[in-house]
Amino acid sequence: MSIKQSEIKRITTNTLQSMKQHGEKISMLTAYDFSMAGIFDEAGIDVILVGDSASNVMAGHETTLPITLDQMIYHAQSVIRACQRCLVIVDLPFGSYQGNSKEALNSSIRIMKEAGAHGIKLEGGEEVCESIKRITGAGVPVMGHLGLTPQSIYKFGTYAVRAKEEEEAEILLHNARALENAGCFSLVLEKIPASLGAEVSAQLKIPVIGIGAGMHVDGQVLVMHDMLGLTKDFSPRFLRRYLNLHEEITGATKKYIQDIKSKDFPNESEQY
Ligand code: KIV
Repeated sequence: MSIKQSEIKRITTNTLQSMKQHGEKISMLTAYDFSMAGIFDEAGIDVILVGDSASNVMAGHETTLPITLDQMIYHAQSVIRACQRCLVIVDLPFGSYQGNSKEALNSSIRIMKEAGAHGIKLEGGEEVCESIKRITGAGVPVMGHLGLTPQSIYKFGTYAVRAKEEEEAEILLHNARALENAGCFSLVLEKIPASLGAEVSAQLKIPVIGIGAGMHVDGQVLVMHDMLGLTKDFSPRFLRRYLNLHEEITGATKKYIQDIKSKDFPNESEQY
């Protein structure tokens, strides 16, 4: 380890816990490759999620279902190589953990060993608690995910806000407590009413990180393509765009093409 590396204080699951206790909000972004992960890490992001949203934004699939464990490991390896400070959590993809707890443990171990990840995330409530106990029992930190869980999109049939009715909100609260009791170190809540996000965060000791779960949870996560404005036809209410890269990149690409066609590029000083 170089001196520089040893001087950097790494974010751990304990750091996130202490941030919740001290009221410091947690920042989390998705990343899928070396270059972007390096920029986010240097900028000071607390957590990078190698999300299975890679299936959508990197591979162009309509849902998160098609991405494989091998493909997730490839993305995670690239991200991990770039990160010196932040905590890197990797999604278990659809089909790599739902079968039984042994399968869930084996998939988690592959992610930890082959990618060098710091923990895994999986979707679901009570039904995945046995797997969570087994995975955490092997020393692997687990982040839960409730609310809109994209791996179950064919069960929901829609990407609409979840748990608006009291009955579903009660089930979500019950599942959140079950995930904490099973050993999750943190929980993602996606697209639920802000009042429910606040209640879950108040009831749980572990940090709750929201995406469309309001301002009262313990941290926020966005998909990097949405946050940077690379996606242009996706505008849910919870999304704040910090750049409009789709427009910027389109403009730069058009200018590049034009410069080549007009023989402006390369010029005298851009050749050997
Ligand atoms: O895969 C993903 O990007 C996620 C976030 C939306 C939380 O799970």
